[in-house]
Amino acid sequence: DTSSAHDVVTRLTRWADDFPEPGVRFADLTPVFSDATGFRVVVDALAACAPDAEVIAAVDARGFLLGGGVARELGSGVVAVRKAGKLPPPVLAQSYTLEYGTATLEIPADSLGLDGRSVLVVDDVLATGGTIEATARLLESAGAVVIGVAVVLEIAALGGRTRLGKYPLTSLVTV
Ligand code: PRP
Ligand code: MG
Repeated sequence: DTSSAHDVVTRLTRWADDFPEPGVRFADLTPVFSDATGFRVVVDALAACAPDAEVIAAVDARGFLLGGGVARELGSGVVAVRKAGKLPPPVLAQSYTLEYGTATLEIPADSLGLDGRSVLVVDDVLATGGTIEATARLLESAGAVVIGVAVVLEIAALGGRTRLGKYPLTSLVTV
């Protein structure tokens, strides 16, 4: 079929007001990914952002599904960028401020072979950009070259794009 990623994301995204706290409007992409066409066209569109990426960095947790799919599509490797406390030491860590709260992201400090590798960062939503900025810094601290960022949905009013100015950014839908 000819469904575009933009159309399917716009049609199937479930919006929830005041979640997880008052004033936050939460974009739940679960119905996009549970739809066979939705998942395929979204993964294909993200993969098209950086066909030469050697490694996909998938951000905990909602970026995991996407990152795995994109890596399979490109024939690249995939690294799960984890929330703190999930990985045994030694780890590289980067803290950040989220739209709601703070958090820390981690990757193994060695064994990944990221030095000099070109990496595409994949996540579901770009809001303030804190998550992806921290992810990019973390990857760079491991010697990786962040060649781009690809997200399904960009919430423009929160300014994430500005914060990520040094990285080529593709969003399939901007609201
Ligand atoms: C959400 C979303 C992005 C991030 C975007 O993840 O999946 O990763 O917030 O926000 P930001 O641009 O302001 O950093 P969340 O931290 O809620 O966790 P989850 O993916 O584990 O659900
Ligand atoms: Mg997330």
